[in-house]
Amino acid sequence: MNILAFESSCDETAAAVVRDGRQVLSNCIASQIEMHAIYGGVVPEIASRKHVEAITGLARQALEQAGVEKKDIDAVAVTYAPGLIGAVLVGVNFAKAAACAMGVPLIPVHHTRGHIAANYITHADLEPPFVCLCVSGGNTIIVDVKSYTEMTVLGGTRDDAAGECFDKVGRVLNIGYPGGAPMDRLGKGGDPTRYELPRAHVQGAELDMSFSGLKTAALNLLHNAQQKGETIDLPDFAASFGQAISDSLVPRAVAAVKMTGCGKLAIAGGVAANSRIRADLERACAREGIELFMPELKYCGDNAAMIGCQGYYEYLAGKIAGQDLNAYATRDISLG
Ligand code: KG4
Repeated sequence: MNILAFESSCDETAAAVVRDGRQVLSNCIASQIEMHAIYGGVVPEIASRKHVEAITGLARQALEQAGVEKKDIDAVAVTYAPGLIGAVLVGVNFAKAAACAMGVPLIPVHHTRGHIAANYITHADLEPPFVCLCVSGGNTIIVDVKSYTEMTVLGGTRDDAAGECFDKVGRVLNIGYPGGAPMDRLGKGGDPTRYELPRAHVQGAELDMSFSGLKTAALNLLHNAQQKGETIDLPDFAASFGQAISDSLVPRAVAAVKMTGCGKLAIAGGVAANSRIRADLERACAREGIELFMPELKYCGDNAAMIGCQGYYEYLAGKIAGQDLNAYATRDISLG
């Protein structure tokens, strides 16, 4: 079954063709990062306009690179939630038109479910049940993936997402937008114990997290040093900051696996590309006898291949949308 998939929930327009859920025939992405970098964050209105400009060409490109024609497409999958509402709407409307024109089913896909499915592309042997630590710029949650389409949230951030923290601190350091990857590179070889930064605990909810205090502490440390004319060792600072984030994520993900007894942990989302978090997860899982699954770096960030992959399983579960499909800015992952 060939699925033509679309993703437009934030600042990447993407189209892909995926065969039978796991074989990526093409994966095309048009990033808007340069446009938003001027403003230090995603400007929703610009994102929507850029999606409109890019999506038709990307759909054509995805078909060409896959070596298939419209008549070879069996279904269209699209991210319909969550995300910037104007941006998601562009993908949803284009996908509706494409499905209608080709006379094939339309499959709505939850964006975070797509991120989780990126693991199926990299690991042909991975099947639910497993626990997935989903960490991106907009969300940080620990998900119990009971089956391909049944999921519940075991814990999550009470405030900022981990990726947002990287981005906000990276912005003050002026190291490039979005800040996560540059912070990661900067912190390599740095001393992660040099600067003391807080790790928050949510009393009574051991799998929940909080990152806003860490963000404020990191920003205060930088501003105080600036006011006093002190020099911050940037690699040590980036390493200390990255370690504080990893120390919040890794033990909770491991605890969630132990709680469910499934023995398998996956990671998903843009922050899943972080080298320190990946290394810490590898160490912790080896120590605890947990099987660890991580997507290839190219499938960590937003892409449409992951939407085509999850779309296949949603289709098998009977999830087909009509032409009245709407987009949603927020939606619980358990609702699909
Ligand atoms: O999943 P994603 O592409 O978009 C959302 O759905 O949010 O994630 C983007 C986030 C950004 O916050 C970015 O800074 C972060 O992923 N990110 C990283 C790394 N690469 C991307 N954060 C930490 N380390 C990285 N290597």
